[in-house]
Amino acid sequence: MKFFIDTADVAEIRDLAATGLVDGITTNPSLIAKSGRDFFEVLREICDVVPGPVSAEVTAVDFEGMVTEGRKLAALASNIVVKAPLTVDGLKACKTLSDEGTKVNVTLCFSAAQAILAAKAGATYISPFVGRLDDTGIDGLELIADIVEIYEAYEDFTTEVLVASVRNSGHIIEAAKMGAHVATIPPAVLRAMYKHPLTDKGLEAFLADWAKTGQSILSSD
Ligand code: E4P
Repeated sequence: MKFFIDTADVAEIRDLAATGLVDGITTNPSLIAKSGRDFFEVLREICDVVPGPVSAEVTAVDFEGMVTEGRKLAALASNIVVKAPLTVDGLKACKTLSDEGTKVNVTLCFSAAQAILAAKAGATYISPFVGRLDDTGIDGLELIADIVEIYEAYEDFTTEVLVASVRNSGHIIEAAKMGAHVATIPPAVLRAMYKHPLTDKGLEAFLADWAKTGQSILSSD
């Protein structure tokens, strides 16, 4: 499973990229607004830090506008993935941009029917929003299971399932068990994935016992 980080905070991205576990980045207009920075400046910096796919979302809602914006975003860096919403115009733009060789991440997917349309439109990624579905009382992970099953049934569906709106490590574990290709993870959730109280307790005990030996690995021949 590939790990993308869901943020436009460049300091966070630099910090997490140093772990060697970051395969790509996703941004959206809300994350750009939260950063308080210039969209293009932020994208250029992110693309310099992370060589993998960096999703940048169009803000036009009509077909022509999305294609024009998508082409401008794609020209920024070779690793830009244009993000377009799951609307009729969004999927038309996805088809046009994908046919031109631009990678497209179709966002705001909330049903398997929408995911089928995105695959047929040539999307590189489909982003089903697990957490936002959970918030409505519908199990978001069931949608991931459905999409993975459908995509696996057709060889010509090459779209990757990018699990979005992730709220906790349980989302990642269950999506990984289903074979989802990618999860885009908020920084705090990725950091929480490292943690287990028994790891801390076990390490503390090992170090206490090691101290009793009076030995040092680096000072011995
Ligand atoms: C995906 O690409 C979106 O940026 C993101 O996962 C949305 O998550 P949210 O529901 O936490 O805003």
